[in-house]
Amino acid sequence: MAFDIETIRKQFPILNTSVNGRQLIYFDNAATTQKPKVMIDTLVDFYSNYNANIHRGIHSLANKATEAYEKTRQLIAQIYKVKPQQIIFTKNDTESINLIIQSLGKQILKNKKSNIVITEVEHHSNIVPWHLLRHEIDFEIRYLEFDENGILETDSLSRVIDRDTQFLSFTWASNTFGLIYDAKKIIRIARQLNPNIIVLVDAAQYVPHSIFDFQEIDADFITFSAHKMCGPTGVGILIGKKNLLEQMQPFLGGGDMIKEVSKYRTTFNDLPYKFEAGTPNIADVIAFGASLRYLLEIGFENIQAYEQELAQYLIDKIQELDFVDIYGTTHDTSRVIKLPILSFNVRGVHAHDVGHLLDEDGIAVRAGHHCTQLIMQKLRIPATVRASLYFYNTKSEIDAFIHSLKKIYDIFK
Ligand code: ALA
Repeated sequence: MAFDIETIRKQFPILNTSVNGRQLIYFDNAATTQKPKVMIDTLVDFYSNYNANIHRGIHSLANKATEAYEKTRQLIAQIYKVKPQQIIFTKNDTESINLIIQSLGKQILKNKKSNIVITEVEHHSNIVPWHLLRHEIDFEIRYLEFDENGILETDSLSRVIDRDTQFLSFTWASNTFGLIYDAKKIIRIARQLNPNIIVLVDAAQYVPHSIFDFQEIDADFITFSAHKMCGPTGVGILIGKKNLLEQMQPFLGGGDMIKEVSKYRTTFNDLPYKFEAGTPNIADVIAFGASLRYLLEIGFENIQAYEQELAQYLIDKIQELDFVDIYGTTHDTSRVIKLPILSFNVRGVHAHDVGHLLDEDGIAVRAGHHCTQLIMQKLRIPATVRASLYFYNTKSEIDAFIHSLKKIYDIFK
């Protein structure tokens, strides 16, 4: 499919709606993306025509539902070059991370001297689960820091990783700065420093924009969620190395994850079902398949090229405003690439006020700490405004956004 922005925009019904009497400009894509009609239709089709529970039925509808659900898993396996058994469906990215930390963390962090390494740019979902685990097990949490540009100080990896480091867990792209970090390089250095280290990559912000090859990145686990890439809410994805998934204890107990239950003992199902207890989110997994096919049809190379243009345009325009402070580098250096995500503040105006006033103009952004309070603490700011764009946004929307920012500054100055 040729990248035709007008055609693409027509495929997202919500982009044609109004907010506060103004045509919606949706710049909150890092929180969740909008949904193409083909995904919405797939959901409606499932509930209208073949709604049934999966894996346990012997009737036609159950078989059709099972087949469609597993087809999404097969597609994910094909895209990221793994086996379907390596893909676990969860509720969201946060649950995927919690599953790994609870299950494998408990198993391997037994030695009091153990430590884990995360980074200062992590979303809370890669910090809080470690804090929770520390209520049960004693281990040290170490941080890889970011510099004044929001870039991770990878030269310091050798300071934080040692022979007692059991886990390295980091985000591939910052939801606040919009910077993409060099995951492959970080993992390579980490494995040189400690060949036994387990690596978890939170790819929630990276995956909506790019495809990766699981083998090539050499992480042990990569997690993300469907709703940030044109999919429905309620579906998280966990991709893991088979030997580790096999050795891990189930996270939740119940239907589908068992092989046999006797009075005092359960044996577990094979991968991936061992980790999919209870009725899963059948409809949404099936609909996520439609989102993926849609994105593949547009082509991730086309998405990236267009987004790069948008990001540059947004940066150029916002840098013309002398009343705006931007957080995280705006330069494309050899170490970072920028997603079309930008955190900033209008001088003298609280981020929440900027967010509310933009909303009055029909522009949706996120304002707050973005679940990255460590970043806010280090920058000594309470909050930022975050504009996050996706491939259906346009330069004329950016112009309208810049116009609104000027208006807001004029009100407060
Ligand atoms: N993690 C999502 C965000 O950054 C919700 O907005």
